[in-house]
Amino acid sequence: MPRVTVLPAEIELEVRNGESVAEAAWRQGYIWPTQCYGQADCVTCFTKIVDGELCALPAGEVERDAIRFKMSSRMRTDQLVRLGCQLKVTGENLVLQKVGFRKAEPEDNNMVDEDQVPAGTHLATEPGRSSR
Ligand code: FES
Repeated sequence: MPRVTVLPAEIELEVRNGESVAEAAWRQGYIWPTQCYGQADCVTCFTKIVDGELCALPAGEVERDAIRFKMSSRMRTDQLVRLGCQLKVTGENLVLQKVGFRKAEPEDNNMVDEDQVPAGTHLATEPGRSSR
């Protein structure tokens, strides 16, 4: 199974085939900053590839458009800047930088109510709660 190391937390995530890095983080109970939960709308999930870029699948049209139209010129010209909610992985050597990535705590208030999340979105689950 593909793996990603996320800095500065130095946490390793397992990423399922077809799953984005942010989806993997949410599924495993981590905070990966977001406002749109994977809709390529908020770009809050942006991350920077630090190493192993060959393990990152190329950005698709949705991701490229979001970066092109919603990010600053400095960010959109950096080929190593990607959206965590769109970034898919094929190997075990990808290293990302994502400030704000950390284990979710029960008191975190940025965990949305599951009823407000668009269908098909993967969420981290809290103990005692079911996922979609
Ligand atoms: S989570 Fe909003 S653009 Fe990725």
